[in-house]
Order: sequence, then C-alpha cells, then structure tokens
Amino acid sequence: MTAKRGKKAPETEKATQPASKGATPKKAVAKKVSASATKEAVREKVASQKVGVAQPAPSAAKTHETPAQSRKRTPGKPGADGQNPFRTTMRRSRAPEPATMVIFGVTGDLSRRKLLPAIFGLWQDGLLGSAFNIVGVGRQEMTDDQFKDYAIKALQDSKETDAIQPGSLEKFRELLYYEFGEFGGDDVYNLVGKELDRAEQAHGGRKNALFYLSTPPSLFEPISNGLGRLGLSGQSEGWRRLVIEKPFGRDLDSARELNAAIHATWDESQVYRIDHYLGKETVQNLMAIRFGNAIFEPLWNRGYVDHVQITAAEDLGLEGRAGYYEEAGIVRDMLQNHLMQLFALTAMEAPAAFDADAIRDEKTKVLRAVKPIPLGRVKEVAVRGQYGAGSMDGVKVPGYREEPGVGEGSRTPTYVAVKLEIDNWRWQGVPFFLRTGKRLPKKVTEIAVVFKRAPLGIFPGGLERNVLAFRIQPDEGVSLKFSSKSPGQEMVLREVVMDFRYDAFGAQLESPYSRLLLDALIGDATLFPREDEVDHAWQIVSGILEAWDVRPGKGQTPDFPNYAAGTWGPEEAEELIGEGRRWRRL
Ligand code: BG6
Repeated sequence: MTAKRGKKAPETEKATQPASKGATPKKAVAKKVSASATKEAVREKVASQKVGVAQPAPSAAKTHETPAQSRKRTPGKPGADGQNPFRTTMRRSRAPEPATMVIFGVTGDLSRRKLLPAIFGLWQDGLLGSAFNIVGVGRQEMTDDQFKDYAIKALQDSKETDAIQPGSLEKFRELLYYEFGEFGGDDVYNLVGKELDRAEQAHGGRKNALFYLSTPPSLFEPISNGLGRLGLSGQSEGWRRLVIEKPFGRDLDSARELNAAIHATWDESQVYRIDHYLGKETVQNLMAIRFGNAIFEPLWNRGYVDHVQITAAEDLGLEGRAGYYEEAGIVRDMLQNHLMQLFALTAMEAPAAFDADAIRDEKTKVLRAVKPIPLGRVKEVAVRGQYGAGSMDGVKVPGYREEPGVGEGSRTPTYVAVKLEIDNWRWQGVPFFLRTGKRLPKKVTEIAVVFKRAPLGIFPGGLERNVLAFRIQPDEGVSLKFSSKSPGQEMVLREVVMDFRYDAFGAQLESPYSRLLLDALIGDATLFPREDEVDHAWQIVSGILEAWDVRPGKGQTPDFPNYAAGTWGPEEAEELIGEGRRWRRL
C-alpha cells in the first residue's frame, strides 16, 4: 500500500544551500608569514622537542599561524577570525553534482543517530554542491510534514549533530520528502522514481541519485532488485549509486549470493559497501603515514617487525540490540569487516596510486595471502568469549545472557581474538593478532606494530621492543616507544614515548559517515570495500564461523560466560599471543 500527499513546490537552488561558512578567504591565504611569526614558530618547535611530547607542527607556512596559536585553539573551535583554517581540508576539489539521496529505512536507528546528522553537517558546511534533497523511504506510513518533524527532532536530539546555525534547520527541512510502501512490490519504487523526476526539475539537470540501504540485511536484496526492476539503476538520465550497510551477508555463501543478486541490475562500479571504520580520519592516516613517509617502509616487513596487534575494544554491552547481535555475534559484527579492513591497510603493499582500484587491489592481495584457517586449526588460532556479570567503572553490569532479549543458554560470542599469518614475502613468519570484544574495560581502537628487539644488548638490563602505535580512537594519534638513557651516572635505559596527537591540528574530527557520504556523492569509491575484498574477508573467517556456529562439537564449546564484564577477555587469549609476547595494556 502506498499513498501520496500534497508536496511542496520544488525548492530553488537558493533555498537549498546555505552560505558556505568554512572557506578561508583567498586573500588571507595569500598573506605572507611575518618574520616574527616564523621566529616564534621556531622557538615553539624547539621548546616542544622534549621526549614524550613531540609536538606535531601543522605547517605554519601553509596555515599562517604559529604552533602556539594552533595549540591555543580549542579543538573544533574557530580561530579569532571566526574561521578554522584546518576546516578547509574538508573541502574538495570536486563538489558533488546536484543529486537526490534516497534513504531506505530512514526511521531506523542508524539513520537517526548517524546519517541524518552527517548529511546535515555536510549541507550546513556548504559541501553538498548546488542542489540536494533527501527522500526518506520506510514501511511506516507518514506524511512529508511528519517526516520533516521526525528528522528535525533527530538532529536536535543527536549528539553527533554539528552546532546548528540560526535558521539552518528551517532551510534543511525544505529538502526533506518521504515515501512509504512495501519493499517487495513496485509501488514504492515508482514513487521514488517520481521524486527523482521532481528533483530533476528543481535541479534543472540530470537525475542523479544515491540510494542508501540503511535497513535490516534481509531487505538489501529486495530493495536493490526493486530499484533495478523499475529501471532506477540505469544511468542514462544521471548517475545512480547504491550504498549498502553492513553486514554484507552472514557468511561466504550468502555474501556471494547477495553480490550476484545485486549484480543482476547494478554494475560493481555503482555499488558502495560501507564500512564506517574506513571513514575514520585516523584509519586514513595509517595510509598517509605508511605511504607519505620514506622512513617506515624499510622497517615494515619480516626483517624488523616481530608481530602486529590490532585491538578494537568496547566498553559498551548490547545497547538493546539483542535481536541483531544474537544473529551476528562478534565475528560478523566486527571481525569480518572493521578489523579485517584495519588489518588489510596495515599489511598491504604500497598502491601504485591513491585511487579506488589501486588501493582495493592491494588490500585484496593481502587478504588473499592470509593462510587459510581450516576447521581443524580454529582451536589453535582463535579464541572466543562471552561476558558474564561484572562491573564497569565501579557500577555493576549484567552478563550477556542476562541482557534483555538474550536467551539463558546463548552461545553467541562477544569477544574474539585471532592470529592471522600472511603467506607472502613481506610478512612470512610475522603473526598479526586481532582482538575485539564488548564490555572490555574501555573503548579503545589501536594498531600496534611491535618491532624486534635489538640484536645485541650492550647495556645492563633487558632490551625492550619498539612499538609504533596508531591510536584510531579515542585520543587519536600516533606514538613511538623506544628506549632512552635515564638521567644519572648509570647507563640505565628506560622506555619513553614520542607522541603525536591529532587534536594538535585544532580541528574537530569529522564523523566517518560525513566523509563516506561525501565520497559516495562525488563517486570516489576508494574507501568502500570492493566485492572481491569482502569475499576474501569472508573466506578468512568462514572456518571460524563454521567451527563455532555450525559444528559446535563437544569439547569445543567453551564454558560461557568466560570473562567478566570490565576485564580484558578470556585467559585463553593470553595463551594465543604466547611465545614471550603479551597483549598491550591499553
Ligand atoms: C558497528 C557495530 O559496526 O561498530 C557495533 O555494529 C559497534 O556493534 C560499532 O559498537 C563500533 O563502532 P565505533 O565507531 O564506535 O568504534
């Protein structure tokens, strides 16, 4: 059943786009750095070169401010002139063409908490090109006005919404439309088609459309088919792109089936599988540091690296998502996608160029080179856990099985640690340890490259391993741990840390969704996993899933719960890392 309400007249370009606020005026950029400012910058730099506080120096020449000025700025706050010069880095050489974004499942949690705030932020910053509008689609019956109220309230309630400028919400409201219907029929897609016709008139151009599937995974196939069936994937009248949320399939076979179903009407170049970890600034910084500097590459291999640890710890529990999580568990929820992406970016070869295919080719190659984990080896290389009752920050919290919606005997894992080995020349013999879990002591995501010890100890005491750690979140930054002489008469070495903190840039980090949505609107697929990547990531975890889900033979099923909420996971994880190594204390 579908219905149609009276619609507002198409908005004009003027009404759709606020004045761009982030641009640094050209004149200011052209100003020369004064001699005194340069001197001050040098003084500041020297003063900051103390062990443990190595300060990054966003280029004074480029930004026309001294490091002191930049440090004084509160992160995310504009400077004295009301502008934040770092903000300009968000601006693109290409703005999206006029387009309609169609969000399926618009009344869902993800859309309310993340998508709408991200789109609003981009729009308010003037980054969405000359004309843009949003069509929400859901199964719930609503008028345009009810949807507008709903979306505005979502923006007002979300912690992710940028500071709202006066009058912005009223203007943003004008961009919103709503359609409802059943996703299995044709009516709803016909209505979406009409929305594109109307937008075309308003935009005075082509019918570009970004379709975002923010629905339960079971609806990915019907919606992509429905759009294709009604001709909405054809690009003769404008570009058409399909953004698909995770999880992409629930195992290798279903991911392949889903890919095949989508490809019946969509070309791979139109498909944007979203993994929000790739939109995180610090994840992209991993590529910048690896491939924008010459000093790391010579060390980035089996000759110097002892092992790599990738951790994505969460303090949160289920957050009311039992229905989804009982089906997914930690392997599908975090390991197959987010952690595999972090792993691939850490281990891949340098791409020939910073473009979608070059990067995705290299990620795929490294995923392909991962030593398969056959059923019989799962016990040796993977550990699972489920949290029991415990306490977080002194507050008692229930165990997983006591969470609303979870069965008493649930065997769903909430923790996984796995050892991956890569069969290629660079990484032969270097284990990569990945761990992720819910209700661990704190929220922290980190990639740590742990180097081999120096070959010979000539000083008293043992030798420590150097560690290059990328803090993905929170306290975003990069640190290098090394040994230094402790002051005094004796030659005693102590570990010290050089630390770069992202907040020194003085700019608030964008939400990953802002970055990824803008990329999808521009047509840049660099940060979206390709079909073959997703396939290989599933291949890596499929042995684990089979051992744990399909054949939970006797003696294999651990005694759940096997770690208390607020602790770092089951003891077996320590054995997994073994051989004189230990998980980093984060
Ligand atoms: C989501 C998972 O993809 O990522 C959640 O479904 C998890 O279970 C979340 O909490 C973690 O994302 P972030 O960005 O908070 O680390």
